[in-house]
Amino acid sequence: MDPSKLRRAIARTPLAPVAAFPKRFARVARHDARVLRVSARWLVTSREHHNYTYELTKLSRQHLAWFVSVVCDQPVKQVRAWIDEIESDQALREHIERATAGAARRGLADRRVRYARRVGWYAIVRATRPAHVVETGVDKGLGTCVLAAALLRNAQEGHPGRVTSLDINPEAGYLAAGAPWSEVVDLVIGDSITSIGALDRQVDLFLHDSDHSRAHEKREFDAVEPKLAPGAILLTDNVTSTNVLAEHAERTGRRFLAYRESPADHWYPGDGIGVAW
Ligand SMILES: C[S@@+](CC[C@H](N)C(=O)[O-])C[C@H]1O[C@@H](n2cnc3c(N)ncnc32)[C@H](O)[C@@H]1O
Repeated sequence: MDPSKLRRAIARTPLAPVAAFPKRFARVARHDARVLRVSARWLVTSREHHNYTYELTKLSRQHLAWFVSVVCDQPVKQVRAWIDEIESDQALREHIERATAGAARRGLADRRVRYARRVGWYAIVRATRPAHVVETGVDKGLGTCVLAAALLRNAQEGHPGRVTSLDINPEAGYLAAGAPWSEVVDLVIGDSITSIGALDRQVDLFLHDSDHSRAHEKREFDAVEPKLAPGAILLTDNVTSTNVLAEHAERTGRRFLAYRESPADHWYPGDGIGVAW
């Protein structure tokens, strides 16, 4: 019998999955072997134990540029230029490397600076020129540095702004403690809900990246709502886990979009950027 006719005949029988097993097994084994290879290399070469850093794949970076372009209504070429701007900011890179090398918890941090989706935060700040950014969840301060770098560039172009960064951990934010970045950063230690309640200036751009539980994320968006300037933009770092910001957008009559990042050469599946505007 003609082999292709035989294959088609088997495909109609209950034996089909058994016949396809070797091909299916090879496919999944190739995939899992790659994950194991990447994981083993990471265990040996990285020191990080949470809030992992990595580069984005080339495709993920291209999609991030388009995401920001649509949300901020800016030409994608301009967005790419902003992403290149932060990635080629040598002064910031060297500052982060130095501060990491001198930090008390340097044994748990990688020396190489990798911003991942934070370059999207940078481009959004460059595009929208907010006077007041609020970031909840600071950790070492990598995101704070990126936001501060964007605000400093905006200031050079005549649009000054500041970032209020909130964290419950008194050791948070050491990367953002060096000038000139620290000059536009107000670090507030305490629970984010209390700190949001105490904000005395309108918020143009709000970024949730603290306690990633659904309940806390929702409490933050509810708490910040009365503090928002007209046309404020809301971002969440939790968009791959919850639908909190999308629901908040629907309740408050905003639009919503989500971007899911893809890390290059990392076992971690990545986070994303949710935006309501
Ligand atoms: C994922 S990290 C922040 C990462 C940071 N935005 C960055 O770009 O690298 C989460 C941070 O949220 C802080 N955090 C957790 N619960 C909090 C709360 N209730 N209020 C304020 N900060 C909190 C943690 O101390 C931790 O530093």
